[in-house]
Amino acid sequence: MMTYHFHRAKLALLAVVLIQFTVRCAVADELDLVYQWTQLGSESETGQRDIQFGTETSNNGEQFNAYGNLPMGVSHHKGRLFVTVPRRRPGIPATLAVIDMRSTTGVNNPPLDGYPNFLINRLHPEYAADSRRIVSVYRTKVDSCDRLWFVDTGYLEYPDNPRQVQRPSLWVMNLNTNRRVQRFEIPEEMVEFGYGIPSITIDVEPDRCEDAYAYIPDYQWRNLYVYGLAQNRMWRFNHNFLSFEPRFGRFNVAGLQFVWNDGVFSLAIGRWDEITKERPVYLHAMASISEIVVPNSVLKNETLARSGEDYNERFRHLGPRGPNTQASGHAFDEKTGVLFYAEVNRNAIGCWNSATEFHPENHGIVHLDNKEMIYPADVTIDNDGMMWVISNRLPIWIYSRLNVNEYNYRIWRQMPARAINGTICMRN
Ligand SMILES: *[C@@H]1O[C@H](CO)[C@@H](O)[C@H](O)[C@H]1NC(C)=O
Ligand SMILES: *[C@@H]1O[C@H](CO)[C@@H](O)[C@H](O)[C@H]1NC(C)=O
Repeated sequence: MMTYHFHRAKLALLAVVLIQFTVRCAVADELDLVYQWTQLGSESETGQRDIQFGTETSNNGEQFNAYGNLPMGVSHHKGRLFVTVPRRRPGIPATLAVIDMRSTTGVNNPPLDGYPNFLINRLHPEYAADSRRIVSVYRTKVDSCDRLWFVDTGYLEYPDNPRQVQRPSLWVMNLNTNRRVQRFEIPEEMVEFGYGIPSITIDVEPDRCEDAYAYIPDYQWRNLYVYGLAQNRMWRFNHNFLSFEPRFGRFNVAGLQFVWNDGVFSLAIGRWDEITKERPVYLHAMASISEIVVPNSVLKNETLARSGEDYNERFRHLGPRGPNTQASGHAFDEKTGVLFYAEVNRNAIGCWNSATEFHPENHGIVHLDNKEMIYPADVTIDNDGMMWVISNRLPIWIYSRLNVNEYNYRIWRQMPARAINGTICMRN
């Protein structure tokens, strides 16, 4: 009797598991793989060494170093993917690279080109400063006015020989002409060094392109810099909520344990509120599982920023996202109202529907993969509403050693409405 019941219970459990599995498969549209690399500039399928990214050696005499070329950020605009390769090792031909998807066939090891060209990415002999060149970029953003925005940290993070080549600067490129339309040097009074700037977020309405603001987090100094394009000025916010949470600095990725203390890392702009006439700006630190919110009218107000503590109450702790939800980037999808997180501590893309209460129970997962999505380093949403993700196994690269015969770097995409299908983020 005991055995019979036990078996029945087991069978019932199996049935439930099978049904759940089937239901999940029927609705959940995980992210699609777009490209993957073993190494940048590695042998392609045809056995041809990729010329564009493989043989550029004239970077101050540095030799091309495939292992040192770790891709970090991704953004998309009309068939072109912008991929960044921060200069953390010598031997990087282009810190800002582009993939023309129309002339790229296949998924494996597609070639990269320098953007806007290799020359502008090149380092001078003796690392001489040059305001026309780009030194090191972490992540980019395409705005609704066909412009590419990024911060050149100006900083070479070479382990044996770190150096600030030039002041960190904000760049704006016109993507229709591939010309630079703005370059703004981040003043010393904002920050001394550029190496803590991991991302940038643009606040602009498509019909008012000149009235744009860039929100720039600094995880090292735990500051937030705001640049007003119309004003051509920059101001700074300082707040305890821009810091890390000491209890959530432990990471466990691909069997590697480490402790980070990175502060504010990413900002995402939410839905327009008809009543308050402003948008919420969501932000979080890397070593944290909390989300903070501040109205964009506060960030845009230079007077307020310079007033010191007057804005202290305007930054609000929205709440915790749940265990192990430490995230690098996040992005807000206007159409579904869903915020997507690149969750580095559980190799996942997480989600929260902004129409629901901010609560761990209202947070879901749209994609989780402990092998192929190790360390999602960036998530962006393009002007057609497509979500793009890059994963790069960064902790293995830093604390262990990548297997260069495996695929290590991957770019993914999915439409948000399909990604959230069947998850808790679908409601409304
Ligand atoms: C969600 O999944 C259901 C069931 O598979 C499907 O019929 C529907 O078209 C999907 N919706 C979207 C937006 O993908
Ligand atoms: C900016 O903040 C200052 C100081 O709080 C306030 O007086 C002013 O009205 C604000 N400006 C705007 C445009 O909201």
